[in-house]
Amino acid sequence: MIKRSEALQICCFVSILIWDVDSVCNETLSCVTQDGKDGYCMEGQCLTEIQSRPRSDLEIRIVAKYPEINIKEIKNKMLYIRGNGLGLNWTTGKKMTKTSTDTWEINFNFTSSDDGFRCQDCSNNIIITKKLEYRILIADKTNMVGGNFVVDLPVSMPSSYFHEKPLFEVYPWFYSKEGHISNFTIHSPEIGKERQIYLYFPPSFNENTYKTYPNLLVFDLYPGDFSELLAPIVDKLLAETGTTKEFIIIGYGDYQPGHERFYLLTPVPGTFLTCANGTFYDLCDNCLPINYTVDEYQRLMIEKCGKRDNIEGFGDRLLNFFLDKVRPKAQELANDRILIDQPNTGVMGYSLGGLMSCYAAWTRSSIFGLAACQSPSLWWPINNTTLNSCDFDFINNTLRDQSFQQSRFPQKIVLDAGSEESASPYRLTQSTVEAAKIISKIPGFTMNRNVWVNIYPGASHNFLEWFSRFWTVCQTLLPSDGAPQIPRS
Ligand SMILES: *[C@@H]1O[C@H](CO)[C@@H](O)[C@H](O)[C@H]1NC(C)=O
Ligand SMILES: *[C@@H]1O[C@H](CO)[C@@H](O)[C@H](O)[C@H]1NC(C)=O
Ligand SMILES: *[C@@H]1O[C@H](CO)[C@@H](O)[C@H](O)[C@H]1NC(C)=O
Ligand SMILES: *[C@@H]1O[C@H](CO)[C@@H](O)[C@H](O)[C@H]1NC(C)=O
Ligand SMILES: *[C@@H]1O[C@H](CO)[C@@H](O)[C@H](O)[C@H]1NC(C)=O
Ligand SMILES: *[C@@H]1O[C@H](CO)[C@@H](O)[C@H](O)[C@H]1NC(C)=O
Ligand SMILES: *[C@@H]1O[C@H](CO)[C@@H](O)[C@H](O)[C@H]1NC(C)=O
Ligand SMILES: *[C@@H]1O[C@H](CO)[C@@H](O)[C@H](O)[C@H]1NC(C)=O
Ligand SMILES: *[C@@H]1O[C@H](CO)[C@@H](O)[C@H](O)[C@H]1NC(C)=O
Repeated sequence: MIKRSEALQICCFVSILIWDVDSVCNETLSCVTQDGKDGYCMEGQCLTEIQSRPRSDLEIRIVAKYPEINIKEIKNKMLYIRGNGLGLNWTTGKKMTKTSTDTWEINFNFTSSDDGFRCQDCSNNIIITKKLEYRILIADKTNMVGGNFVVDLPVSMPSSYFHEKPLFEVYPWFYSKEGHISNFTIHSPEIGKERQIYLYFPPSFNENTYKTYPNLLVFDLYPGDFSELLAPIVDKLLAETGTTKEFIIIGYGDYQPGHERFYLLTPVPGTFLTCANGTFYDLCDNCLPINYTVDEYQRLMIEKCGKRDNIEGFGDRLLNFFLDKVRPKAQELANDRILIDQPNTGVMGYSLGGLMSCYAAWTRSSIFGLAACQSPSLWWPINNTTLNSCDFDFINNTLRDQSFQQSRFPQKIVLDAGSEESASPYRLTQSTVEAAKIISKIPGFTMNRNVWVNIYPGASHNFLEWFSRFWTVCQTLLPSDGAPQIPRS
């Protein structure tokens, strides 16, 4: 008698022909087991259930790179690893093996079954179901800064069939909790003149020189002004709370006096009402009352205090300047440690900067993978006939343009606004929600997967508001892989 499995291996058709009369059951048909239960015939047996096949001899490798020269511990300069499973725990570390200069490694042999993943040869065998979270420590004492590293399980190709095992390389840092601000000046053929650029380098930048970083273009940041207040906010996210991945900020806020900010942060030409005399800071030479409402402002600007200004909409020139000149220079200053691929490139801004973020992300999806449009001036421009209504050019034209809806690269876009930004004709609160809803219906986008919208009740329109909610867009766009620290037991 030929066993069915062998017959099937020879050829399924042949196996049908050689089915022998003395078999327990007929292959793949229903049958009755010896103890009278209904079953199915498989491989010559009448089965009522099939056992899941566990996997063993799975292997992955974690490699940590860190400049040894920066290790301050005198006696023990080795790296250790603690974690939530595969033989690791959070109380005592395992020593990693130093394999070459600045390089430490550890292998994990594990099993997996329908209930999770376990260390293969450990006595203490915690099971994990999704993520191996771990931290690196110097001398099992000095804990790394920032969120846990993570291996998302399951991973491909860990079985003994493969010679090369999956390798996860990480760049921990241990001492520095503060980033630093820098700046440079660069000539711009696109928008003219020498322009000053703001840079923020994250805490680990000088400590672990192997590490590379995503980049965020942020509008309205200028070296030496209120933008200095941003660094401590970002430091906290990256080092203290550890909820966000480290990134480099390239800030642009070098506007010429007058209304250059309007020229550079608007994507299309349009009309705007500016002060007939004075500036917004002196209430148009005290023409506006100090406590004006949006309605009053609208009326007074049209009737008395304002004048029509035609703004050319040089947003694209600013973006070209950023991509062609500013970022390459920043890359040079950062020793090529900026990740400039699409998933690692973000754009962020508030007000007109928020409009520009959305515009940049929407029209250049192959370049920007991440965008934060905060209290965006989606109303731009005001209607040049009525002067007291708005055109909402981004929503009506850019967002609805079919050519931009097709062949898009994957992106994450977050929009936000305060509830007190709702006054007509700008309707900033409402238009922000509307834009998010439109985006979420475009193929490739789903609310809460890659587009988010937040409204802050009670919040009005000002830069303090912007900085005070910077953390939430960072956590949305660049969340840490793992939990921020060792879990408290
Ligand atoms: C298998 O099928 C044949 C043909 O229908 C039938 O004669 C035979 O009794 C079946 N065998 C079993 C074990 O059910
Ligand atoms: C934690 O892991 C270390 C290193 O593998 C081991 O020596 C220690 O016994 C473990 N502790 C517990 C409580 O499992
Ligand atoms: C993992 O398995 C490989 C091959 O079976 C073996 O050489 C190695 O020592 C094991 N590593 C650990 C950490 O158990
Ligand atoms: C710009 O950077 C230089 C050092 O490169 C520094 O001396 C200067 O204070 C910075 N300017 C501002 C405005 O921060
Ligand atoms: C604005 O201030 C003026 C004078 O201080 C006052 O008379 C007026 O009622 C105020 N208006 C509003 C809307 O608060
Ligand atoms: C602006 O200034 C000019 C010259 O001083 C003056 O004639 C005009 O009335 C002012 N306009 C407004 C709206 O204050
Ligand atoms: C108003 O805007 C339209 C385009 O929207 C333009 O064709 C027209 O010239 C503008 N008119 C004025 C007075 O600026
Ligand atoms: C501007 O307002 C006029 C009058 O209400 C309207 O006809 C026109 O369509 C508006 N322009 C735009 C671009 O919405
Ligand atoms: C432009 O968009 C605004 C906001 O969605 C809307 O109210 C308005 O009707 C639109 N205008 C045109 C001409 O489609």
